[in-house]
Amino acid sequence: MRITGAVLEESGRPRPYARSRPITVGELELGDPGPTEVLVAIEAAGVCHSDLSVVDGNRPRPLPMLLGHEAAGRVLARGDRVADLEVGQRVVMSFLPRCESCAACARDGLLPCTNGSRANAAGELLGHPGRLSRAGAQVRHHLGVSAFATHAVVDRASVVPVGADVPPEVAALLGCAVLTGGGAVLNVARPEPDDTVMVIGLGGVGMAALLVAKALGVRRIMAVDRLPDKLAAARALGAAETCTPTEVVERGLRARFAIECAGHPAALETAYAATEAGGVTITVGLPAPTSTVTLPALSITAEARTVVGSYLGSAVPARDIPRYERMWREGLLPVERLISSRIGLADINTAMDLLADGAAVRQVVMFDHQPPE
Ligand SMILES: NC(=O)c1ccc[n+]([C@@H]2O[C@H](COP(=O)([O-])OP(=O)(O)OC[C@H]3O[C@@H](n4cnc5c(N)ncnc54)[C@H](O)[C@@H]3O)[C@@H](O)[C@H]2O)c1
Ligand SMILES: [Zn+2]
Ligand SMILES: [Zn+2]
Repeated sequence: MRITGAVLEESGRPRPYARSRPITVGELELGDPGPTEVLVAIEAAGVCHSDLSVVDGNRPRPLPMLLGHEAAGRVLARGDRVADLEVGQRVVMSFLPRCESCAACARDGLLPCTNGSRANAAGELLGHPGRLSRAGAQVRHHLGVSAFATHAVVDRASVVPVGADVPPEVAALLGCAVLTGGGAVLNVARPEPDDTVMVIGLGGVGMAALLVAKALGVRRIMAVDRLPDKLAAARALGAAETCTPTEVVERGLRARFAIECAGHPAALETAYAATEAGGVTITVGLPAPTSTVTLPALSITAEARTVVGSYLGSAVPARDIPRYERMWREGLLPVERLISSRIGLADINTAMDLLADGAAVRQVVMFDHQPPE
């Protein structure tokens, strides 16, 4: 079928992207879903730093690529071997499909799926080289999804069903910001209400970590960012204390759990510096593959410290997304408060500029489809 989508043509073009226009919006061809795949009408797609990292070249990927991985939509068609999803079902996209047969999948979310990771790096779907093309030439999928488009064909393992009462823009954010930032709290830190939690880097991922910590009853949440607007927003969402990375060091602030959600090595060094003896530094951000950090070596041993990485919130999406959905329904997880603006596909280059400037938390691309019969 013919679809409209936003394709990244080239990485590393100069800012502002509104002028250099690395992403073009136009028509593409989308193949039919294979036996284990579904066709989804995309309703909402959030703009995440992991999209920007392909645009700016921090995460090198094969191009051209149709971006977008944090999304929700409705199932329009399903392959012969997809028996457990009805047409019309609202689904959340998951940006790392689980094959359920590799050794990593057996580790319950602690390790990213080997086969899903390989497909994502190649810009392919889990069990197929890809369903997207333009004038006969291949266009790659982003993280098994490619949601900055009216429609997507994805593997069944790339979607999780949610209730029709969850608005599409809320459902979209459950798939990346909440699963990732929230998972660092829920699956890795597992704090008690009296534990201190510090979040460093207050984009969609960091703010979602903050919301989940608050939902778990953590009383002392500290929020850290370079930008004053982000600190004010974090206070409004329930952070007990906010400060800049410089102030963390100057004031000697420490937390039992320090969660880095910025994607910069300096932020990981801040998080480590702010972790108590016996505490845990959790890193969620995805810096450039060449970047390195310097940590004071003795303290790791002498203070019994832990540094742990968390990809995809160390989550099993089919297990965890329903949990966040319930928390949202109970009013414990006000995900809509992470939304800065609702935009159209044509605004996508400008959206990348705003994200790079830290001027937005989550911008969500909205799509109008006829309601299902
Ligand atoms: N691990 C995963 O599975 C996963 C999933 C999604 C996103 N990510 C990564 O998480 C990171 C955050 O994503 P996002 O969409 O929330 O990004 P974002 O750009 O919206 O937010 C990043 C925030 O970090 C702040 N920041 C930058 N440098 C800092 C520093 N040195 N100290 C403190 N704050 C600093 C920025 O001002 C900004 O507010 C990115 O690296 C993204 O690629 C990881
Ligand atoms: Zn993301
Ligand atoms: Zn696997």
